[in-house]
Amino acid sequence: MVAARITVNGKETPISPVAPHTTVLDLLRERGLTGTKEGCAEGECGACSVLVARPGVNKPTDWVAVNACLVPAAALDGQEVITSEGLATVGEPGTPATLHPVQEEMAVRGGSQCGYCTPGFICSMASEYYRPDRCAHGGTDASDAGHADAEHADAGHADAEHGPNGFDLHALSGNLCRCTGYRPIRDAAYAVGEPAEDDPLAQRREQAPPEPVATSYTQGDSTFLRPATLDEAVQLLRDRPEAVLVAGSTDYGVEVNIRSRRDNCVVAIDRLPELREIRVESEYLEIGAALTLTEIERRLDGAVPLLAELFPQFASRLIRNGATLGGNLGTGSPIGDSPPVLLALEASLVLTDADGERVVPLADYFTGYRQSVRRPGELIRAVRVPTPLSRVTAFHKIAKRRFDDISSVAVAFALDIEDGIVRRARIGLGGVAATPIRSLATEAALEGKPWSKETVEAAARVLRGEGTPMSDHRASSLYRSAMLGQSLHKLYAQTSEAVPSS
Ligand code: FES
Ligand code: FES
Repeated sequence: MVAARITVNGKETPISPVAPHTTVLDLLRERGLTGTKEGCAEGECGACSVLVARPGVNKPTDWVAVNACLVPAAALDGQEVITSEGLATVGEPGTPATLHPVQEEMAVRGGSQCGYCTPGFICSMASEYYRPDRCAHGGTDASDAGHADAEHADAGHADAEHGPNGFDLHALSGNLCRCTGYRPIRDAAYAVGEPAEDDPLAQRREQAPPEPVATSYTQGDSTFLRPATLDEAVQLLRDRPEAVLVAGSTDYGVEVNIRSRRDNCVVAIDRLPELREIRVESEYLEIGAALTLTEIERRLDGAVPLLAELFPQFASRLIRNGATLGGNLGTGSPIGDSPPVLLALEASLVLTDADGERVVPLADYFTGYRQSVRRPGELIRAVRVPTPLSRVTAFHKIAKRRFDDISSVAVAFALDIEDGIVRRARIGLGGVAATPIRSLATEAALEGKPWSKETVEAAARVLRGEGTPMSDHRASSLYRSAMLGQSLHKLYAQTSEAVPSS
């Protein structure tokens, strides 16, 4: 068997002898690459951000920024990683390195004081720098080898969250800085131009990324396995139903780091081709359970507006670069962001094991707190969203921060309103019960009624009584109930001008 190894900054780095639960962050630091920092070890600060070569959306390879603190090193067997040290160009011995354009802008615009967060910011920024369609949305000059003059760029494409160079500020939503302040960091982000033609990482995008490598990595009594095919995966799960499934590891990595979780057998399913397709059928859209949220967001490109509204509110770009719908549903959390949206869309799950497949409506999937009908040995292969889609949709996430936070309450709406009458209403709720739930009583209170202030007031009273919201450190039960009702009023305010009432 070939020993597990990662290519880091162009050099092959053996993974052995670290434990299967050792993270990429720990591996890098053990190998002397201490630019990559640990801040929180739970995916919230971005100090550990590194770039990984992944299948691209618009080019064969994308340089994707991920939280190295969450990903087991064994999960990147055979893959290519770039750290902040690998971005600068090292010259002849005795001569200084040439900073990467992103590093240069951060330096000259005062984007770094203590520097602890800086390598993470640099890697997240570099990922956005190399996003193939970034400059299509900006007005920078490709000949300017990595530098854009923000004052002279075409500002026509800029808005509160995008620079004149097309830089999407959400690329930095998973990076925290406690001392510099964000304005100089934003200035640096908005000043980078297009990669030069001879930029090696830009050129690397034109070739295919490394294939996933079937991995069986054991140290002591713990094993990390990456099966090559879905058949292999379900056979493996039949033999070892106690195995823990991981995809982006954005939830599991927190358990490992913060709660010292250790498992004898971890099975990675995030690169199984059968779990990474988007298929458009006559009656539904099927989304592979192991596509990352970023991949779904970019590949659907707004085709499912309710999902498009969800993605920016789901954690941070760093997390979305690893997290999957299968993982968010597999953990069964009552406050996951995707279940309310998928409930409103009336999605079903395709569950697969060694005996075959079954399709389960998401409304029947959750059975209790972090429990579901998924059997041992079964995995989520795909999520099916029936079509045609409802035309009036909204996702309201009530949280303490606008981005990168856990919801207190989440409400997703999908309504069909014809001639001012609510013909059909589907409402998904999160954070108000032990599981995500459908708001059946409120749906009944809306259907067949005029989409009017009176209907909304009556239905909002019903909505306030849905679920069994509890009080905790995020919100009181009273607040949660009040927010449910408010969200329907908000939807009405957003839509009443566009949708005539009777
Ligand atoms: Fe904070 Fe990884 S160390 S996100
Ligand atoms: Fe000190 Fe960002 S420069 S935390």
